[in-house]
Amino acid sequence: MNKQVSPPLRTNRSFVIREGRFTDGQRKAFKQLWPKYGIDVEQIDVFSPDEYFNKPGPLLLDVGFGSGDSLLSLAQQRPDINFLGVEVYRPGIGAVLRKLEQHDINNVRVMNVDAMRLITSNMPADLLAGVMVWFPDPWPKKRHHKRRLVQENFISQLSRVMQSQAILHLASDWQPYVEFMQTHVAKVQSFVQLKTNQNPLKLERPTTRFEQRGLRKGHQVSDLIYQLNK
Ligand SMILES: C[S@@+](CC[C@H](N)C(=O)[O-])C[C@H]1O[C@@H](n2cnc3c(N)ncnc32)[C@H](O)[C@@H]1O
Repeated sequence: MNKQVSPPLRTNRSFVIREGRFTDGQRKAFKQLWPKYGIDVEQIDVFSPDEYFNKPGPLLLDVGFGSGDSLLSLAQQRPDINFLGVEVYRPGIGAVLRKLEQHDINNVRVMNVDAMRLITSNMPADLLAGVMVWFPDPWPKKRHHKRRLVQENFISQLSRVMQSQAILHLASDWQPYVEFMQTHVAKVQSFVQLKTNQNPLKLERPTTRFEQRGLRKGHQVSDLIYQLNK
């Protein structure tokens, strides 16, 4: 029998590079609009928001925005906040670039890089007023847990680039990952869990594309909101 075997996963990265399903429109948007909304990580040493955003304001980081619908909806609701989206999936970025232009949204910039690299190598301390990690890839198999993005090392690096009182908003529809995230955040001192209706930034998380898939499968969704007290 000709059974297809997946190649072994060789690194602990939280993602697998996929270039698939790049529509012509997304590819064109990438080419035309990247200079306007995109930030090349290779071009920066230390990220400085003043160089990229039209107005000063608190800066929120959306890690792994996927199709970006929730990021864009939030950015439209809150023109007083600047949003930096980071994603490794280029077709998703192409789609976001197109929507940014269509809806004339000026408070979002995007980067095509591993979030871990960005926060460890290119971000100054005390920069972010908030971080959203909504529906990170759950990596359900035990042997893949080391690939999960939200774990102690990541949270500890985030705490360096977050301001005191900044908010960390995690969400997942995979309950074992919710517990895993709680355990790992608890390993990093100074994060205090808040009730979900106590977010000081008064942000309402829009339903995300990935969440909708989970809900259709009957998954329960959990939000975890933390405040960093440095
Ligand atoms: C399950 S999807 C969720 C997307 C979106 N937040 C949503 O809820 O619809 C997770 C996303 O995180 C991205 N991702 C995974 N690891 C990443 C990393 N280290 N840096 C940036 N993006 C990452 C993946 O490419 C994927 O698009």
